[in-house]
Formats: sequence, structure tokens, C-alpha cells
Amino acid sequence: MAALRTVASTSLRSTLRPNAAATARRSAQAPSLRATRNLSSSRIVAEQQGPVKGSPPPAADSGVRTNRTALFGGLAIAVLAGGAFAFFGDRDDRKNLLDVGRGGAQSAASWPKDGLGSQQDYQKVYNAISERLEIDPKYDDGSYGPVLVRLAWHSSGTYDKHTNTGGSNGATMRFAPESNHGANAGLKAARDFLEPIKQQFPWVTYSDLWTLGGVVAIQELGGPKIPWRPGRSDREANFCPPEGRLPDADKGSDHLRWVFYKMGFNDEEIVALSGAHALGRCHSDRSGFDGPWQHSPLSFNNEYFTLLLNEKWHVRKWDGPKQFQDASTGGLMMLPTDMALLQDKKFRKQVEKYAKNEELFFKDFQRVFSTLLELGVPQENFKRFEPVNESGKPYMLKTTAEQENA
Ligand code: HEM
Repeated sequence: MAALRTVASTSLRSTLRPNAAATARRSAQAPSLRATRNLSSSRIVAEQQGPVKGSPPPAADSGVRTNRTALFGGLAIAVLAGGAFAFFGDRDDRKNLLDVGRGGAQSAASWPKDGLGSQQDYQKVYNAISERLEIDPKYDDGSYGPVLVRLAWHSSGTYDKHTNTGGSNGATMRFAPESNHGANAGLKAARDFLEPIKQQFPWVTYSDLWTLGGVVAIQELGGPKIPWRPGRSDREANFCPPEGRLPDADKGSDHLRWVFYKMGFNDEEIVALSGAHALGRCHSDRSGFDGPWQHSPLSFNNEYFTLLLNEKWHVRKWDGPKQFQDASTGGLMMLPTDMALLQDKKFRKQVEKYAKNEELFFKDFQRVFSTLLELGVPQENFKRFEPVNESGKPYMLKTTAEQENA
């Protein structure tokens, strides 16, 4: 368990896991607060769900997330090995990474028969993703891992158990309108990052690839092993879920419950999933919020919980949406929804458990993240793989470190 960090932001976690060692160089650098920008506001049209406690009234929102929507306009045509594929991209200032991966496309003769990839086939895809994670040292803190986790979560977290719609089966964020939903601002960076992998392994569906990207990132950045099954199929634009199913960061615990109960999660699971904010950062040109949650944003650990509990947080004075700042260094942030986990008694109890016991957090996160990535996928999709995956057992793909040490 990580102890409370009150030292200067330049200090480095003393106990990094071996497979997080590669990230240590970057973690050592202080995550300085970035220049802020006051973005134009626009309203989000929330899905009408009826009078559920905590459900959003149409359109109440932080108002800064949908700048992408207003700026929408780019049409990109990606010609893939399997055929021509048109998708609408949200505008993003990031470098377009549509170059072909180092490996080159796998020859059709070596594709798995009927698309039924074995664990070894997906291990190759895993390795190709992990090799590219640090391809651009100038990207954020030096790794695409965190944004891949966010893509995996946003492509799955649209699931609504009441209508059995949304979820990870479809990768419909390739299309407008979903790519332009305010919550998905900036995820083009992750989709573009994975595109060369899709070209290299054309037999993998986007839906499997995007969820696998999240697994690679969690495992390579020092998190728990994530059981993962292939079987998702891609769907067309008419399967895009309506806007408003993902959480708004400026809201409280009722809203969190409304959003996550719809996916089928309970209070403890909401807290476990929120621990993913150990990774990455907020971007003022994406969500409007700014900064990382912890000092080593490329190390998956329970520090999000220890900081949340033990650090002093005050409202940041700045020309941006309401967010919280740590008193010790001023370099860390919490969203209003993160603070809601402290303010709500039941959530707080779970935060305390995870702050004390990183092993427990890892154990729970392993299960809930795996469940998240399967939301909305019909069981028969997974069953199809039974002949190659020992009666439907999930794959436990090996980390780079495990393969090196084998
Ligand atoms: C509890 C409700 C949640 C809210 C309100 C929320 C909100 C946000 C916001 C506003 C950002 C910043 C986006 C940006 O500016 O780039 C963010 C980033 C992130 N979120 Fe969440 N999130 C929630 C839950 C989750 C969950 C369940 C996961 C994964 C299991 C997750 C993983 C991440 C990661 C890894 C990032 C960093 C992305 C990057 O560095 O590019 N979040 N989240």
C-alpha cells in the first residue's frame, strides 16, 4: 500500500513494480499545471430516462466538454485491408497516427480460421499494442496507456441494462454522432493510436481491439491482470447510443449511482472503477478540467485513494470548471465526482478500504474492469470461441515483463 505522499511533486514513488519501471523516468517529472483555456460552453442533450434519482435533467452540464461538438467537421476515410471504411472523426489537435505499424499487415494465410483467435493470436496483438505505448515521448506523460483505458471504458460504459443497448459490442464511437459526444472529447488520439494495429491484424474487430487496448494499458502500467475474452462484433452507426450515458464530472453521488447502476454496478464497484484515475490526466482542451490525480500518472496503484483521503483538497482558483487542488503541491487535481466518493458515507467506507489495502483494490478492480469490458456483449458471441479457448475461459494475456522473464 502506498503511503500518503506529502513530499514535493518531483519525488518518485519508492516502490515501483518491475513492469512499471519503464515509466519511472516520466513519473519522476513533476506534473506541472498546464496553461488553461476557457472554452466555450454548449449544452449536452441528456438521454431521457424517466424520473430516476440522480438522473440528469436534460442538459445540465459543466458546459465545457462539448467544444468538440461545436468544432466537429472532419471527415476521414480509412481504407482498411478488409475494405473501405468511412468514419467521422472528432476534431483533435493531436498528431494523426494513421501510419502503418512496424510489424506490417499479417498475411491472410496466417489469420485465425473464421476469426477465432487463440490466446497466442491475441497475445501477438497485445504485444503489438504494448510495443507502441511509448511511441511518442512528447505525448502527455510519455505513454498512450491512460487514454487507451479511457477509450475502453467509454466504449463499454454506454451500456444500459434496462434496454440492453450500448456497451462494448460495436465500437460505434467510430461514427458520428458518438465520436462527437462531449464525454468522448480527445478519444480520437486513442482510436488513431490503435488504427495501425487494426491494419496489422485485420481479423481483429475494433470492439475487441479497443477493449484489449485497455487491458494492455492496465497490465503494462503495473495494474492487476485483467481476464479478457474476444468475441465482440462491430456494428454500424445506427447502433450509436444516445448521448448522456457516461458520467458528468461536475455532479454528485446520486448522479454516479444513476449512471453506474444503469450498467449494473453497485456502490463498491463504482469506487473500485474510479480507482482507474490513478492513471493519466485531465486536459483543458478535452474535458475542460486540468491535471493529473497523482504524482505518477503512469503507475497503476491505490494512490488515488490514499491521496483522496489524506491530502487536503481545496477548490482551485482558476478560469475553468470547478475542480479541486491538493494543498501540499498544488500540482494534483480531483474532480467533483471524485470528491463525491469522500462525501457519501457508503462510498467513503470503500475508499478507506482501498486506501489501506492495495491488494484488495487490485482484486476488485480486476473483476469489475473485466465485467465493464463485456457489457452489452451477447453470451453467444463468447461461446463461439469455446473450441479455441477451453470452454470459454477468459484469456489471461502475459505482460511484457512476464514474457521477458519466462
Ligand atoms: C466516476 C465517474 C467518472 C468521471 C466523472 C470521469 C471523468 C473523467 C474526466 C473528466 C477525465 C479527463 C478527460 C480529459 O480531459 O482528457 C477523465 C480521464 C480519465 N478517466 Fe475518468 N471518469 C470517471 C470514471 C472513470 C472510470 C470508471 C475509468 C476506468 C475504469 C476512468 C478512466 C479514466 C482515465 C484512465 C483517464 C485519463 C485519460 C488520459 O490521461 O487521457 N474514468 N475521466
